Amino acid sequence: MSEPYDWKQLERDIAAVLATAEGNRAIVDGVRPYLQRLLAQEELVPAEYRTPLPHKYAQYLLYKPEDESFAVIAFVWGPKQTAPVHDHLVWGLVGLYEGAVVEKRYRRNDRGETADPRYELREVGEATARRGDISFVYPPDYDIHGVSNPFDEQAITIHIYGTDIGKQQRHIHDVATGGHRDVVTKHDNERPVYAAV
Ligand SMILES: [Fe+2]
Repeated sequence: MSEPYDWKQLERDIAAVLATAEGNRAIVDGVRPYLQRLLAQEELVPAEYRTPLPHKYAQYLLYKPEDESFAVIAFVWGPKQTAPVHDHLVWGLVGLYEGAVVEKRYRRNDRGETADPRYELREVGEATARRGDISFVYPPDYDIHGVSNPFDEQAITIHIYGTDIGKQQRHIHDVATGGHRDVVTKHDNERPVYAAV
């Protein structure tokens, strides 16, 4: 058993990273050990938030500080559930808490000022994440991915983003055409699982 990681302590830890890190890559490197600590906590996701929704992956806000400088979210992936290819427009980390998911990464290729669409997406990697693995995203070059659970067991991932991602205007991409559409993916819970105190 690991010691429960106090949310106020997490606020202080992440604030210290944000105060000193230069650039998104330094931020995700700085925040990674704190996500690692969260992933080690068996009680992090209460039982009532561990069940997948029937029609789509579930997105449960666990915690965010008052200033919304970051947010911790649990995603519950039923077997065969998938998230379309999307961006975030903010730094983020994705930790594997239970089961396994497959992540496909994409890079934008600029097709030129006058091209329509302006970009095309190139698949640059695919990885299966298992318990304890941590991946990351940040704009502009490491921001686009698709995540799926192609397995027969459900999966849970824990994410930390540099904003309340449930309010973030971002995009779902169509790999085949290079087009995209605006999206806001709201949390599936009304209030955070853990209240800011
Ligand atoms: Fe994502």
